[in-house]
Amino acid sequence: MSISSTAPELFDSAGEGVVQEAARRRTFAIISHPDAGKTTLTEKLLLYGGALTEAGSVKARSGRREVASDWMELERRRGISVTSTALRFEYGGAVLNLIDTPGHRDFSEDTLRVLAAADCAVMLLDAARGVEEQTLKLFQVARARGIPLVTFVNKYDRPGMEPLGMIDHVERTLGLVCSPVTWPVGRAGAFEGVLETDGETLVRFTRTTRGASRAGEERLEAQAQEGLAAGDPAGEAAREELELLEADGRAWDAERFAAGELTPVLFGSALWNFGIQHLLDALVQIAPAPGVRETAGGGRRPVDAPFSALAFKVQANMDPRHRDRIAFLRVCSGRFERGMRATNARTGRPVALAYAHELFGQDRSTIQDAYPGDIIGIVNASDVLVGDTLYAGPPVAFPPIPSLAPEHFVTVHNRDPARRKQFHRALEQLDHEGVVQLFRRDAADPAPVLAAVGPLQFEVATERLAGEFGVNVRLEHLDWHLARRVAPADADAVRASRWSELIVRGDGTHLAAFRTPYALDQFRQDHRHVELDEMAVR
Ligand code: G4P
Repeated sequence: MSISSTAPELFDSAGEGVVQEAARRRTFAIISHPDAGKTTLTEKLLLYGGALTEAGSVKARSGRREVASDWMELERRRGISVTSTALRFEYGGAVLNLIDTPGHRDFSEDTLRVLAAADCAVMLLDAARGVEEQTLKLFQVARARGIPLVTFVNKYDRPGMEPLGMIDHVERTLGLVCSPVTWPVGRAGAFEGVLETDGETLVRFTRTTRGASRAGEERLEAQAQEGLAAGDPAGEAAREELELLEADGRAWDAERFAAGELTPVLFGSALWNFGIQHLLDALVQIAPAPGVRETAGGGRRPVDAPFSALAFKVQANMDPRHRDRIAFLRVCSGRFERGMRATNARTGRPVALAYAHELFGQDRSTIQDAYPGDIIGIVNASDVLVGDTLYAGPPVAFPPIPSLAPEHFVTVHNRDPARRKQFHRALEQLDHEGVVQLFRRDAADPAPVLAAVGPLQFEVATERLAGEFGVNVRLEHLDWHLARRVAPADADAVRASRWSELIVRGDGTHLAAFRTPYALDQFRQDHRHVELDEMAVR
C-alpha cells in the first residue's frame, strides 16, 4: 500500500452535512505496554495536529503547562495513567479523536469500554521488545471488539529486532498478517530512514533536538536515490525485503484490515518525530470513519439518523477544581447540538444536554455541536451509566458493553460507623463508574464484596473513598481467583456447591466465584447443565 505523506487536504471542510462530517472523523485509541512510548507518541500526534506548540507542553487556555492526561494524584505519584482522556485535533482536513487508554493491565476493563467507543486502534510496539504482556492482553480486548489495528514499531533509533524478525514475531504471537506501509532502511539503532512501500520514495531520518519540533524527515524521490541505492547496501537490502514480503501474500488488503485480520505496519521513532506523519496519513487514509452501528435489537443506526450516543465512561471528581461527575459519550449518529434534549434508552427518561464539554486533559471548553465519532463529556448527568444509549428521534439502544470477569475479590469494611450512608453511596458511585464492581454475598456475611480485574483497582477505590467521600475502609482479601456469570435460575446450585460462592450485583448479575481452576472444573462436572459465562455483561 502506498501512503502519501504530503498531508493533502483530503476533505472539503466546507461540507456541513452529518454524512460529510462523519466521513472526516477518525476515532481511535492507542494500545501498548507501559514504556513503549504511548505518552511520547500522543504528544507528537498532537504536535503534528497543531494542538501542541512544543512537545512536552499543552496549549492550555490559561497558559498552564501540564501533561494532558495528568488527572489524579495517584497517577502523579505512581507515574501511571489511570484515567482516560479524549483529545481532538485536526490533520489533513480530517478530525482525529484520540481516546486515551490506561497503561496498566489492571485497568484493562477501562480499555474495553474505550474500545467500544473507538473505530480503530494503534498498536504501539517497542522495536526491541515487540509484543509484551500488556500489549497482548489489550490486543485480545481489541480483537474481541473486532476493530482494525494499525501497528507502529517505535524506538527504531535504538537497537532492536530485525524488521523481518519483528514481522514474524507479530504474526506468530497475534495471528495477524502484517502488511508494511513503510519499511526501515538500516537496522534498528543504525536507522537511516524508511522506504514507502510504493518503493519510490525514501524518507531519510535526521535527528532534531529530541524531536521538540516537527521535521526530522527528508524525502528523496526515486531518481534522487539512484546513486544512494547503488552505494548503499542497507537501501538495497530493504528493497529486496519489501519485494519478498509483497510476493509472500502481505500486500495491502482493505477488507482483511477491516475484518481485523491484517495490520498495516509502520516503523519510526516517536521521540525523534520520525514516522509520525506517516502514521497520521495512514490513519486519515485507511482507518475507518464512523459508520452504521448495530443496535441491541439487531437493527442498524446509520450516521445520518437522528442523534444517538453511547456512554462509555463515567467519572466523578475528575478535576478537584470542578467537583462533579462527567459521562463521556461517543456520538454514533446525527448532530449533537448544545442544549438539545435526549432520552436515556435504559430509563426512558429525558436527559438535558445543556453542558457538554470537549475535554483536553484538564481543560474543558463548552462545545456547540458534535458529529458521529466525536467524544463529548456531559457534566452532572447523574443517571447516565456506562453502557447507556442516549437518543433523539426514533428510539435506539446499542448493545451492552461487555465487562471482563473479575479475578480479584475483597470484602470492604467501613471504619467509621457514623459515615455509614456515605460509605454505601460512595461504593455505589465507584461501581457505576466501573472503578470496581460491587457485589453482595448472600450468605451470613453482610460486608459488601468488591471485585476487580486487577488489584490496583482496589488501591484506586480506597484512595478515592478517602479523598473524595471522606470514607475510610479496611479491605479483607478473599481467596477467590475466577468468576463466571450464571443465570439467576442457577443460583441455588452455585450456593449449594462446595466448590463455588455466589455473589450478586445491584443490577441482578449473578456471579459464581471459584478459588482455583480445579474448583471450576469440579463444579462443571457436578453441574453440567449450568452455563458459565466468561464475559460478564453489565
Ligand atoms: P508510555 O507512555 O508508553 O509508558 O511511554 P513514554 O512515552 O513515557 O516513553 C517511555 C520512555 O521511552 C521515555 O523515556 C521516552 O522518552 C522513551 N521513548 C519514547 N519513544 C522513544 C523513541 O522513539 N526512541 C527512544 N530512544 N526512546 C523513546 P524515559 O527515559 O522513561 O523518560 P524521559 O526521561 O526520556 O522523558
